[in-house]
Amino acid sequence: MKVGLYLLLLYFGIVLHSCSATSTHPLHSTASLNDTIHDPHSYANFKAIKTVHLDLELDVNFQNKTIYGVARHEMKNNNASEAIFDMRNLLIQKVTTGKIGNEKEADFTIGKFDVDSILGQPLTVKVNAKTTQVNIYYQTTKGSEALDWLDTLSTSSKTKPFLYTQGQAILTRTWIPLQDSPSNRFTYNAKVKVPKDLLALMSATNPKEKNASGIYEFEMDQPIPSYLISLAVGDISYHPYTSTCGVYAEKELLDTCVYEFEELPKMISAASSLYGNYQWKQYDLLVLPYSFPFGGMENPRLTFVNPTILAGDRSLVSVIAHELAHSWSGNLLTNSTWDDFWLNEGFTVYFEQRIMEVLYGKEVADILAQIEFQELQAELKEILEGKHPEDTKLHLNLKNRNPDDGMTSVAYVKGAFFLKTLEVKVGREKLDQFLKEYFKKNMYKSVSSFSFVNELESMLLAPNKLSFDYDEWIYEKGLPSNCLIINSPRLRFMESFANRFIQGEDIFAPKISYEWLKLKNTRKKKRIEIREFFEKEEYIVQEWQTFIRTLSNKSITIPQLQYLDSVLNFSTSNNAEIASEWFVLNINCRNKVIRPNIEKFIAKVGRRKYLMPIYEALVKNPEDKVWAKNVFDKSKAYYHAVSRNSIAELFKD
Ligand code: BES
Ligand code: ZN
Repeated sequence: MKVGLYLLLLYFGIVLHSCSATSTHPLHSTASLNDTIHDPHSYANFKAIKTVHLDLELDVNFQNKTIYGVARHEMKNNNASEAIFDMRNLLIQKVTTGKIGNEKEADFTIGKFDVDSILGQPLTVKVNAKTTQVNIYYQTTKGSEALDWLDTLSTSSKTKPFLYTQGQAILTRTWIPLQDSPSNRFTYNAKVKVPKDLLALMSATNPKEKNASGIYEFEMDQPIPSYLISLAVGDISYHPYTSTCGVYAEKELLDTCVYEFEELPKMISAASSLYGNYQWKQYDLLVLPYSFPFGGMENPRLTFVNPTILAGDRSLVSVIAHELAHSWSGNLLTNSTWDDFWLNEGFTVYFEQRIMEVLYGKEVADILAQIEFQELQAELKEILEGKHPEDTKLHLNLKNRNPDDGMTSVAYVKGAFFLKTLEVKVGREKLDQFLKEYFKKNMYKSVSSFSFVNELESMLLAPNKLSFDYDEWIYEKGLPSNCLIINSPRLRFMESFANRFIQGEDIFAPKISYEWLKLKNTRKKKRIEIREFFEKEEYIVQEWQTFIRTLSNKSITIPQLQYLDSVLNFSTSNNAEIASEWFVLNINCRNKVIRPNIEKFIAKVGRRKYLMPIYEALVKNPEDKVWAKNVFDKSKAYYHAVSRNSIAELFKD
């Protein structure tokens, strides 16, 4: 009886409250209820009731590495009797409905973990047809895998701790209970309390410096998908390049960052003139600690960057072009489920290369494309021979699997080559015009392979009476026969150096020749010394990669490797792209001399792209595997969960 009365009161409380609830966010009309797509990676019932605005209150506690939070969801309700949220490894204290000052506790249940606990658990809150506000009081746990809590010694300052989040693909639910599907957009704001000596930043409006209170307020008034909500807390300083773009980093790294990314304003204007105005008002970079598992992450207004990009010579800035390009492909238009991840990444790689072409010319852009194509070919072979050959299609089926499985060069490079091949077919001018219109028309929307093909047909192919076999690219395995081939003479040149070296030639030794000079009545012999390899003052990183990759495909001896290292110093290269490929080659050839260099690298750099091939090579040999396990055990607490989990798989018997 008592419970019944309570529920009755609760019911009326909600009704009374929600009558007065109105949305104050003008962009909500664009975030319409989407009833065509089902997301296999979310429990949320956002077709029935969806978050349109999220209001976060966060207390970041470094002592016990916990965020204490309240997630206030303002919801558009389509006659729902329950609101389902995604959560994983969170502790829920209570759930209420109604606005602050008028909150009523609501009944909720937490469902079972799915088999591999990939999705986490559904949090089901009882609501009625009038409910428009659901507030979840919670705290994070050790299993909140989005969070990387770094102790002071793992930061550049060595005196202040650091925290950052990584939400993509489905980790936001490990630090905020929400409807965690990329097809569901909402605006957000946040009030974040951090220790007084630290600065907090989010993918939103950001402060430029620390304040005395340690309380920071943020607003993102453009609707974004949940995986783009992000937070970073540390002893961070800012350097502006212009009034709308700049770079944040710990101050020990700031000068290096400022130099490395100086061309950022140029990149932004190149990108904007290609595909339409930059829509996100501000574009800043935040350079994170080395444990960050990715090269970059396109959090809107604040791209997160791995410090390995700081090669000292601006040679890895294509990562910045890539993350910037996501401001259109990914952030303005988002894949509606992770099955269409290629619509985010393939477009972005294509776009990245176009930005690079504007800044550095076609030769460099082609070199980039060809290097990536080599990776695609190797990975296609591996996937086609593995358990899931269907993963070589652009449109994936990742139901019951971790969406991270889709993060292969199929989405990135096959996706980009789809557009490059299309470009040759329809002409650059027409493709650019289409892409510009496509971005404009679908701003703040989700896209699927299906909807993209419709747009392609109606906006580009049909009006120009053109045809293109997109189905083969999207729905069939492997690489279509019409795929564009790129051939860069500079890379071919490096291949031939590597081949000559393998065959025993000392490619670094000077070549001596003589020339007869006529001097008055005498003839004089002139000695000419050519150092062919060093004729060119500098090689770019992709040329070095090609050199190392060519060696990897042949059998090279340990003395040959050591000789190369003595001349070219690969083992101590400041460029992580070069060092990591060099390490893999040496491990495969069982050259153990450089183990200290490898250990130093993998104990410092947490980027999964570098760690995985190195650990994969090490576990192939029993003795190396023991050594690798020991290094992993020492480093694993420092790695972000994304990298740690992937590496741990390799040691499972
Ligand atoms: N959005 C991705 C990173 C990502 C993808 C994180 C899927 C989690 C799940 C980012 O834009 C990216 O592609 N980063 C690349 C950069 C590269 C392709 C230039 C990376 O980190 O290697
Ligand atoms: Zn990307």
